[in-house]
Amino acid sequence: MNKVSPETEREIRRRKTFAIISHPDAGKTTITEKLLLFGNAIHMAGVVKAKRGHFATSDWMEIEKQRGISVASSVMQFSYADHEFNLLDTPGHQDFSEDTYRVLTAVDSALMVIDSAKGIETQTKKLFQVCRDRHLPIITFMNKLDREGRDPFELIDEVEKVLQLPCFTMTWPVGSGGRFKGVYDLMEKKMRLFAAGQKTLKFTQEVFTDLEDPILCEKVGQEWIDKLKSDLELLQGAGHDFDQERFLKGELSPVFFGSAVNNFGVQELLEAFIRYAPSPRPRPAASRLVDPEEAPFTGLIFKIQANMDPRHRDRCAFLRICSGEFIQGMTVYHVRHARDFKINNALQFMSQERKNIDRAYAGDIIGIHDRGTLMIGDTLTMGEELKFAGIPQFSPDLFCRVELKNPIKIKQLRKGLEQLAEEGTSQIFHRMHNSETIIGVVGPLQLEVVKFRLLNEYGADAVFPPMGYTVSCWYHSKNKNKMDDFKSYYHSHIVYDVREYPMMLFKSDWEKQYIEEKNPEIKFYSSLLNYEEELHGTD
Ligand code: G4P
Repeated sequence: MNKVSPETEREIRRRKTFAIISHPDAGKTTITEKLLLFGNAIHMAGVVKAKRGHFATSDWMEIEKQRGISVASSVMQFSYADHEFNLLDTPGHQDFSEDTYRVLTAVDSALMVIDSAKGIETQTKKLFQVCRDRHLPIITFMNKLDREGRDPFELIDEVEKVLQLPCFTMTWPVGSGGRFKGVYDLMEKKMRLFAAGQKTLKFTQEVFTDLEDPILCEKVGQEWIDKLKSDLELLQGAGHDFDQERFLKGELSPVFFGSAVNNFGVQELLEAFIRYAPSPRPRPAASRLVDPEEAPFTGLIFKIQANMDPRHRDRCAFLRICSGEFIQGMTVYHVRHARDFKINNALQFMSQERKNIDRAYAGDIIGIHDRGTLMIGDTLTMGEELKFAGIPQFSPDLFCRVELKNPIKIKQLRKGLEQLAEEGTSQIFHRMHNSETIIGVVGPLQLEVVKFRLLNEYGADAVFPPMGYTVSCWYHSKNKNKMDDFKSYYHSHIVYDVREYPMMLFKSDWEKQYIEEKNPEIKFYSSLLNYEEELHGTD
C-alpha cells in the first residue's frame, strides 16, 4: 500500500465524522447548535432553531422553516481541541429514512439523542437499526434532565432491552426536573453542578472531586449525595470496564446525561468523541477494503442536493473522502463514466456558510458543484476501477400520477422532477405505452416536499392524484418467455424506472403475496441492490 505522508496521516487521524440520530423533538437541533458553539462555528445559541420561523443554520429549506422539521440532512464542519469534526444531520421524520440511510454510510460513528422523559421512541428504534446494520459505534445522550424525567436506571434498562445495546454509564444524573442537581462523572470521579440558562461559551461550572465536601453537601443536599452514593454502588455492581473494542464494533454504548438547551453535558460529548470515537475507518469496496491512509485519493458520492442556495440555482454533490487527500483543482477518475474530470470548485460546509477549500482529507465531507455528472453511489478515484458498496435504494410505497395545473410549465416540471429524483427525494416512473409520468415516494411528507419544491424552485404547480398502490417491487426471471407472459398479463400494474427496470405495483401486501404465489418463476425485489445483483448474475 502506498501510504500518505506523515502530515496527511496526522490530518486524517484528527478527524471525527459522525451523525446525530434521534426521534423528532428529542433535542437534535439544540445539540447541533451547542456543538457548533463549542466549535466556534456560531457565536450565540438560538440561531440554529428551525422552530417558530426562526432562521435555521442546519435546516436549509423553506419548507423546514415553515414546518419546523428537518427533512433533509445537512453537513457541518467545525474544529474543537485540535480535532476536525464533520457533523452530519439526519432527518428525524420516517418519510425521509432513505436520506438517513445514505448519510449513515458516510459517517464513522453516531450520537443517539434520547429524551429522558420519553425514552426510546419509534424513530430512535428505526435509526438505531440502520446504525446497527452498519456496526456503527454509538454514543448516547440522555437529554432534558432539567425536566421531570424517567428514572435513569429504567432508561438504561430500556436501551439495553429494547435496542439490545449494552450501555456503559459515563456520567450519572443527580435528580431531575426542578431538582436536577448535576451529573457525576464516573470516569473522572467528579460531580459537576447544573446551572440553567447557559447560552454562550462564557460559563463557569462548579466541579467537586470530593463527595464529602461540605460545600457540595450544602449546595446539593445530603439526601441527594446519599442517593448518588447508593446509585454508584448499584452501578459498580453492574460494573464492567469500558471496552473500547466492543464500542468500536457497535456492541457497547457510552451514555451521558445532560440538558442540551442549558448547555449542560454537551462539551463532555465532544470530549468523548475525541477520546473514544474512531477516526476515519477503512471502507469496503466491491473488490477490496480501502484504508483511509492509502495515498491515492478515493471518495464516494452519498448525497445530491439541488438549489441549496436559491440565489444560485445550483446542484451540489456531497462526497465523503474515503482515502488520501483532496487538493483543489485535482483531476479525478469518475468510475461509472470511465472518464477523468477536474474538480476546482470543491466546498467545505460551516453550518450555513460554505467556502472554497484548498485541501481536504479522508473523513471529510466536501461539496462539488455539478450539472448532473455525479449521481448518488458514484465512486471517484485516481484511476482505479473501484466501486464503494452500501448505498441502498428501496422500492417506494406511495404512487401518484403527476399533473400540472399550468401545462405551459411542462419543461420546468420535467427538470424539477428529474433533479429531485437525482437527489433521491423521490423516484420517477413511466408506463410502456404512454407518456404518463408517475412519482413514487416512501411517505406522504416526502410528496409534500416535492410539490413545494417544484413550485418554489422550478415554478411548476403540480398535483399528485394517488393511484391506490401501496407496495412495489422490481421483478425478474431468467426465463424470458415467463417475463413476456407476465408483462402482457399484468401490463396495467407495470411501470419502468429511470434505468428502464420494470417494476410491479400492488394495491396491498395481500395482492403481492397472491401474485407472487401465482408466479413462482418470477422473483420480486424491494431493494435495488438485490435486484441488480440478480440481473447481472444472469448476464
Ligand atoms: P429535534 O431537532 O430533535 O426535533 O429537537 P429540538 O432541538 O428542536 O428540540 C425540541 C424541543 O425540545 C425544543 O423546544 C427545545 O428547546 C427543547 N429542548 C431541547 N433540549 C432541551 C433540554 O435540555 N431541556 C428542555 N427542557 N428542553 C429542551 P420547543 O418548545 O419545540 O422549541 P423552542 O421554541 O423552545 O426552541
